[in-house]
Amino acid sequence: MPTLKAVRGTRDLLPPETALWNRIETTARQVFARYNFGEIRTPIFEDTSLFARSVGEETDIVSKEMYTWEDRARAQSEKPQSLTLRPENTAGVVRAYIEHKLGETGQLQKLYYIGPQFRRERPQKGRYRQFWQIGAEVIGPPSAGSESPLRDAEVLEMLATLLDTLGIAGWTLELNSVGSSADRERYNQVLRAALVDVAPKMCVDCQRRVVTNPLRVLDCKVPEDQPIIETLPKIGDSLGQDSKDHFAQVTAALEAAGVPYHLNPRLVRGLDYYTRTTFEFTHGGLGAQNALLGGGRYDGLSEAIGGPKAPGIGFAMGLDRLVLTLQAKEADHSSASPQVADAYIAPLGEALNAPALTLARELRRAGLHIELGDGSFRLKKSFEAADKAARRIVILGEDELQSGILTVKDFASGIQTKVPCVELAAHLAKPGGA
Ligand code: HAM
Repeated sequence: MPTLKAVRGTRDLLPPETALWNRIETTARQVFARYNFGEIRTPIFEDTSLFARSVGEETDIVSKEMYTWEDRARAQSEKPQSLTLRPENTAGVVRAYIEHKLGETGQLQKLYYIGPQFRRERPQKGRYRQFWQIGAEVIGPPSAGSESPLRDAEVLEMLATLLDTLGIAGWTLELNSVGSSADRERYNQVLRAALVDVAPKMCVDCQRRVVTNPLRVLDCKVPEDQPIIETLPKIGDSLGQDSKDHFAQVTAALEAAGVPYHLNPRLVRGLDYYTRTTFEFTHGGLGAQNALLGGGRYDGLSEAIGGPKAPGIGFAMGLDRLVLTLQAKEADHSSASPQVADAYIAPLGEALNAPALTLARELRRAGLHIELGDGSFRLKKSFEAADKAARRIVILGEDELQSGILTVKDFASGIQTKVPCVELAAHLAKPGGA
């Protein structure tokens, strides 16, 4: 029988690498808390129409990359439902915002999430079919200030702070505005007109997009189409005064806060819900998949899926890509070295197993990291196992149990000490070498 392996594009995350994942997640939670964000957890799968109506039918994500299935009806009265593993989390958050009437609080909702997303993309370095995102959304009624350019600038400043706190240097903030939905409509007309002559020379997907959603032509990855795309009009030239003013306030606040950015007029992002500010943070060390994170404003998304007017802005960071970036930087980072316990308890004989468990319980309660051996091991085997797993070995034989004095050997110094049981936790809490 062929051995079973993780499905293409998915992978197992093992210790010690998971320590780095945890460190990133913990730092993100701490930074988000300082900006008063709370955590939201939405389901891993949703009704397919949620993504079609938000991310957009013509996007690569919806048209090619979703894991969708027809869920069987359980009763005759039930209709089969089309379900999809979430390819991103913004749609789910906005669905939850509407479902739980969060807008009625009159407050801005500041929500973050950490979780897996699923896209059937061609796997390569930094691109997986199950990948993890850390994201956040700021959404609320206009009366709560949800349209303010200050919200955009604050989110971008928070991201700069988070990347700096994680120790990721050398990022670039790419920034653009795709305008309001009216600006987008105007731009689509300009694009359609510009594409009339050149579209027949482009790929079949682009030829279709000219009719259905011309903006998506700009996402085309076909190399032969790129020189044509370069000549197309830029979205910035179609922005109305309101959008220009909004964007100018975002950039002014970023400059005041000292967050560097790079204007990129081609940054339209591959999801349909964006309006006005769009952005990506890129990192040179990542190669072809260089976007550490992406996001933007989505002032019409709630209404597009049947909710009240609720402008918002948010982002999602690729956790897999943050890990790659930090691993490259910290090739010898301590979190990447195997986990080493404070002590290994070696019971001498199976009759000592139960007292050893009791001792381990007490030491762990004192906050120590303890590896518990097994009384069936010979002493030599215990020493070998302890040397790999811990800084010290604690020997627990009949004599030690009777006298309450334990033998502790420190591997780094080679020193062997007799330690009274009551002093053991304090002794093991000291740094190694004694
Ligand atoms: P996105 O640009 O599709 O935006 O994804 C955000 C980030 O997720 C990317 O910059 C990348 O780091 C990571 N990512 C995406 N696809 C993959 C993949 N196949 N493998 C590894 N990492 C990946 C969104 O998802 C929007 N929901 C962001 C947002 C939130 N906009 C507003 N609010």
